[in-house]
Amino acid sequence: MNSIQENIFYEADKEYNPDHVATPRFVVEDIYDLIDIKSFKMIWFPFNNYDSHFKLKADELNLKYKATHIFDDCGNDFFQTLPPKGCDLLISNPPFSQQNEIIKRTFELIDRGLIKSFCLLLPLSTLETPTRAEMYEKYIDKISIIIFKKRIKFLGKKTSFNKGCCWICYNIPKLTRQLYWI
Ligand SMILES: C[S@@+](CC[C@H](N)C(=O)[O-])C[C@H]1O[C@@H](n2cnc3c(N)ncnc32)[C@H](O)[C@@H]1O
Repeated sequence: MNSIQENIFYEADKEYNPDHVATPRFVVEDIYDLIDIKSFKMIWFPFNNYDSHFKLKADELNLKYKATHIFDDCGNDFFQTLPPKGCDLLISNPPFSQQNEIIKRTFELIDRGLIKSFCLLLPLSTLETPTRAEMYEKYIDKISIIIFKKRIKFLGKKTSFNKGCCWICYNIPKLTRQLYWI
C-alpha cells in the first residue's frame, strides 16, 4: 500500500473507529510542561500519525522523536514495533479498548531496557480491575498518577463522549509525588 492509500484508510478510520480519540492541544501542552519534555533525548509516540498534537507540538519545540501509527507508511503496529534507539520516553494516548495489552507491552519494554519511562493517557477506569492493579502494583515505586479534575472533551467528539482520564506515568524524574490533580 502506498502512502496516499494509507492516508485514505487513516482518514476513513478516524470517522468510524471508536478507538480513534484525538487528544486536544491543551492536554499535550500541560503534560509536556509537567514532565519537562525538553529533558528527554529521544521520544516515541507509538499511536500518532501526522495530525496528532503530540507530534505537532514536538515539531514546534524541536524535540527529537519518532511518531508511529498503525496507518502510517510502514503500518507500524505498536505490538510489533520497537522504540527508536536510546528512547527515554514513550508518551501517547493509546486505544483504550486495548489498554490491558498495551500496559503489559509497555512494562515489557521497560523490563527489556528499550524505554526508560512512559506516560500513557488512559480512562480513570484503568485504575480498576485485578489485572491492571497487579501490573501497576508491581511497578508502584516509580509510578505517578495525574488525574484530570474535569472530564476531557476529545477533538471531534460530542460532549456526551467526555471522559474522566488520568496519566499513568512511570519513572519521570520531574514527578516527585505519586498523585496529582490537574
Ligand atoms: C486514542 S487514538 C489517539 C490518536 C492520536 N495519537 C492523538 O492522541 O490525538 C489511538 C490511535 O491508535 C491507533 N491504533 C490502534 N491500534 C494500534 C496499534 N496496534 N498500533 C499503533 N496504532 C494503533 C488508532 O487507529 C488510533 O488512531
